[in-house]
Amino acid sequence: MKLYKFGYYIALLLFFSTLFFSSCGKGGTTTPPDPCNGITVLVSGITSNPTNAGATNGSITVSATGGSGFTYSLNGGGFQSSNVFTGLSAGVYSIVAKSNNGCTGSASFTMVDQNPCAGVTIAVSATLTNPTLPGAFDGSIIVTASGSTGFTYNINGGVFQSANVFSNLGDGVYVIIAKDANGCTGTANFTLAAPNPCAGISITVNGTVNNPTASGANNGSIVATATGSTGFTFNINGGAFQSSGTFNNLSAGTFTIVAKDVNGCTGSKAFTLTNPNPCAGVTITVGSSIMGNDPCLSPSGMITASGSGGTGPYTFSLNAGAFQSSNIFSSLASGTYSVSARDINNCVGTASNLIVPTLPAGPLFTAVRTLIQNNCVSCHNPTTPNGGMNWTVDCNIVTFKDRIQARAVNANPSAMPPTGLLPASERQKIIDWINAGGKFTN
Ligand code: HEC
Repeated sequence: MKLYKFGYYIALLLFFSTLFFSSCGKGGTTTPPDPCNGITVLVSGITSNPTNAGATNGSITVSATGGSGFTYSLNGGGFQSSNVFTGLSAGVYSIVAKSNNGCTGSASFTMVDQNPCAGVTIAVSATLTNPTLPGAFDGSIIVTASGSTGFTYNINGGVFQSANVFSNLGDGVYVIIAKDANGCTGTANFTLAAPNPCAGISITVNGTVNNPTASGANNGSIVATATGSTGFTFNINGGAFQSSGTFNNLSAGTFTIVAKDVNGCTGSKAFTLTNPNPCAGVTITVGSSIMGNDPCLSPSGMITASGSGGTGPYTFSLNAGAFQSSNIFSSLASGTYSVSARDINNCVGTASNLIVPTLPAGPLFTAVRTLIQNNCVSCHNPTTPNGGMNWTVDCNIVTFKDRIQARAVNANPSAMPPTGLLPASERQKIIDWINAGGKFTN
């Protein structure tokens, strides 16, 4: 027992002596030089990402420079001599490389999940069964997806199901999504259409029209019938459907009648109701009073028209011109005219061959003209129109009557004829004519 204890103390003494002497042998208490001084350990690596989301088959293969005999630690774990770390999922990893001198370097590596759907194209096709009738819900869609595996399916955004059959479907467009085990999806739209109940059905509308009995009256009617199907209802101009094809209280116009059968199939026809001709049996007579044309006031003819036989007030037109409310057409040259009268119902009567005559010379003018022919024309003719006056033209006598009066009646500034005034009885003819108006027609 005692010997054992002694031996224990000897052993302790030897241990501490060894520590002491080994320190002294290396230079006492001075700090040894850092073997990593000036050494840089560089860590690089090649990553291999996990092959799909959630997989743990990624790896990092590291290499280091700046020393030798490297060991490696992943995320602070134990150092290993292999430079390959496997079984990694997505994430950020820190790797420390340590050389046989204990010098270290580190680098960070990021592992990312692969997009599981990259390169995956899921095609969705279907076998469609349409509803057998409009409004029926016995259609179906049997989906087939390709391009991946482990599919589930939904319809119009509903819950995914493993069965690829959607039944009890009516008319419409359906969106089908097929989803594979990785959540990759393919989408397609499918349309189910009910059979057209009107295919092969041709509906014909016929009818009789009863026109309004008077212009503006609304007592016309259409009696329509339809053929080509059964259970017809009818509407007019887009109104409500009714079982009768008779439409009353119609005024003139065009009306479209639609006939609709029990399945909603339609046919249509347009009918036109016309007012009775308001001019049937109406004869419009044009009366006229005509004033002839004074050739020296030309044009001075005038037609004053009137209408009868229709419903006034009338409007009037000359020579098929525009109708006007005035019944007077003035400033007419001599000639032949037609005048129409139109009543409020647009019934028209026309008087053709209304002659505006040239008025004859009046007696007072004729007496003056004779006097001038006898006493003045020798010096006032086309060859020698003294003073610019040619009295062989009737209207010159009218136009210059004031000068004639001045010279031949008043001798102002001198008498005409120059040989001396005519006898008073002759001069009186000039005075009488001018006092009566001095016109060609006086
Ligand atoms: C012998 C020739 C002669 C006869 C006839 C004659 N005249 Fe003249 N007349 C003239 C001559 C020359 C002039 C131009 C000189 C003048 O104005 O006095 C003239 C000028 C006129 C003029 C234009 C001048 C003006 O004052 O406006 C009138 C009008 C006229 N005569 C009227 C008559 C009438 C009317 C008669 C017949 C009743 C007539 N003359 C007969 C020779 C004649």
